[in-house]
Amino acid sequence: MKRYSNRLYEGLKRISLGSAALLVVFAAVPGTGWAEVPNAVAPKGAHAGDDVPQPIEFPHDVHAKINQINCMYCHTYARRSKVAGIPPTSKCMGCHTIIATDKERIKKLTEYWESNQSPPWKKVHDVPDYVHFTHEKHLDRFLFSNEGMDVERVSEVCAFCHGEVKEMTVAKKVKSLNMGFCRRCHEANDGPSDCWKCHK
Ligand code: HEC
Ligand code: HEC
Ligand code: HEC
Ligand code: HEC
Ligand code: HEC
Repeated sequence: MKRYSNRLYEGLKRISLGSAALLVVFAAVPGTGWAEVPNAVAPKGAHAGDDVPQPIEFPHDVHAKINQINCMYCHTYARRSKVAGIPPTSKCMGCHTIIATDKERIKKLTEYWESNQSPPWKKVHDVPDYVHFTHEKHLDRFLFSNEGMDVERVSEVCAFCHGEVKEMTVAKKVKSLNMGFCRRCHEANDGPSDCWKCHK
């Protein structure tokens, strides 16, 4: 922790033109923002991400824990791109044209489907646009290239950064995802420490 703080301090000192200038540079670079995430809309304003009112309360516990649906079955892009993605309604309807059709929330889902609209899911996690993040590299390192880590245990890897989503009745942000959080893990696991890896 001490070593980490010193190194960060040195780094910040080096670019002592000030973080204001640095931020201008970051802001000029097209970011990896939510805009690229299929089926999800932007939070309005400086949204902290804790309690996000969703168009339909989607119970992760019912799907991922009770019914054991793999996280990557719905968040299909995670293994091969920057974003994890939110599943299209057609994926839901694969089950919900038959399952729980009498439930209020499924009726609402069916209304969206029949009117050719996606529920406007709101983003819960959103790092600033000047931060470069990619799911693919992290899943490769901690799941696919991790000997003894079976794909069925994917939720443990997601939990490093998202907490125990499979226990949640509504997705919530429980990890800070700030620079200290990212850098501590990079330091402990030989991830890149170069500023420009996360800020290109
Ligand atoms: C692989 C099948 C499957 C898929 C795909 C699926 N669900 Fe479900 N869903 C279930 C099952 C099983 C239940 C539990 C039904 C029950 O308790 O009667 C459920 C329950 C629900 C409930 C709770 C209903 C209630 O009020 O009790 C909601 C809301 C829901 N699903 C929404 C969705 C949405 C939105 C999607 C797409 C993002 C989706 N589901 C995709 C199988 C699925
Ligand atoms: C049946 C489909 C389905 C499964 C399975 C599923 N999710 Fe989701 N997930 C969704 C939907 C729909 C949303 C958008 C609604 C919301 O945010 O509550 C979502 C949202 C999320 C979010 C918040 C995204 C954001 O906006 O920041 C995270 C994190 C997440 N899921 C992680 C997981 C993890 C981890 C697992 C496995 C334990 C998992 N999901 C399993 C459908 C699914
Ligand atoms: C190393 C940390 C980390 C891991 C591991 C991780 N995520 Fe994420 N996730 C993030 C960050 C950071 C964001 C916000 C990205 C942004 O705002 O550009 C995010 C965003 C998301 C979102 C919102 C939509 C999107 O794609 O931006 C979903 C859904 C999601 N993650 C699901 C998952 C699932 C499912 C797993 C496991 C298969 C997982 N994440 C593993 C850090 C992680
Ligand atoms: C659970 C530990 C862990 C956490 C948390 C984590 N990372 Fe990483 N990250 C790694 C490791 C390990 C690598 C090196 C992966 C490899 O190259 O095999 C890496 C690689 C990267 C890369 C390099 C990708 C490339 O193109 O080479 C970026 C960028 C990155 N992480 C950004 C972030 C950001 C931003 C956060 C915080 C939101 C974060 N990471 C959180 C462990 C982590
Ligand atoms: C592992 C990824 C990672 C690395 C490496 C990294 N940063 Fe960051 N940085 C982040 C994240 C994530 C944020 C956004 C924090 C937030 O959401 O408030 C951030 C925010 C910032 C900010 C915004 C100011 C603030 O605190 O709000 C500055 C300036 C910055 N970083 C400079 C640096 C410098 C200089 C280095 C190299 C010494 C560096 N970063 C290395 C991930 C990283």
